[in-house]
Amino acid sequence: MADQPQHAPRLSRYQTTRPIFPPTQDRKVIVARVNDYLTIQLRPFAPNDLEHVHRLRTQEAVMVNTEIGTCDPDLATSQQWMDRFLPPNDATTFGWMIWARQDGEPWEHIGNMGCHRTDPVPHLGYMLRTEWWGKRIATTAVQAFLNAWWKLERRVMEIDPQNVDDEHKLHLMGLEWGQDEQGSASSEGMKVVSEILLAEVEHRNPGSIKVVERCGLTYRARETITVERGSFVLLDYIASKPTAG
Ligand SMILES: CC(C)(COP(=O)(O)OP(=O)(O)OC[C@H]1O[C@@H](n2cnc3c(N)ncnc32)[C@H](O)[C@@H]1OP(=O)(O)O)[C@@H](O)C(=O)NCCC(=O)NCCS
Repeated sequence: MADQPQHAPRLSRYQTTRPIFPPTQDRKVIVARVNDYLTIQLRPFAPNDLEHVHRLRTQEAVMVNTEIGTCDPDLATSQQWMDRFLPPNDATTFGWMIWARQDGEPWEHIGNMGCHRTDPVPHLGYMLRTEWWGKRIATTAVQAFLNAWWKLERRVMEIDPQNVDDEHKLHLMGLEWGQDEQGSASSEGMKVVSEILLAEVEHRNPGSIKVVERCGLTYRARETITVERGSFVLLDYIASKPTAG
């Protein structure tokens, strides 16, 4: 009997959406009330914000929970970090400075938040100065951010899983390297998967876990990553695009 033809496994192509980030000059300040005495503003980054950013990024208790795990050694390092949010890089990021006003006092810069990475999946991150922890500011800021995030205009994009070298992220997005598993067929025969926003939270960060859960993100998976300073367990929380209506 003749041999059966050998077929290579069929690889899926996927269709999803991504936000289109307006240029910094078109971003409006977002105002949110934490309580009767405390209001926050999310303001786009501006070049003269460097000293505020550096002041925040040299608080050890804040930085120990971030990706790099240490304080910025100098202004140049903070500048490099901030540059990701300034034009022309604002085309691929959606970052905000968090300012607070309490009891009629002057506005004060107290934190940063936003999406600093969109490839292969958009990430959400946030940090506040320690003096402002425990007042529900992060919860309020993330809620306000998500509200703005899902209102952004969107473009349709295709993802070829073969071009993404991070299998874990593919899995989080509902994409697979091999046979079709998830999604529904689009008219072009591609699989359509819902857009997500990812928050990676270190498993020993109960404050941040509470923030994402309270803001409606759902736990999807965990991943142990090993970097120079050690191994960390990251919990992957996902915000999914709200369905219309
Ligand atoms: C994580 C962080 C943003 C939280 O900000 P915040 O404004 O204090 O958060 P909120 O007040 O909105 O919510 C935190 C909740 O967790 C609780 N919490 C904080 N630390 C906790 C702990 N060790 N154990 C249990 N609960 C804790 C708070 O009590 C609060 O709950 P409550 O409102 O019911 O009292 C802030 O601590 C921070 O900037 N940390 C350093 C950077 C960081 O970890 N970023 C997140 C990376 S994923």
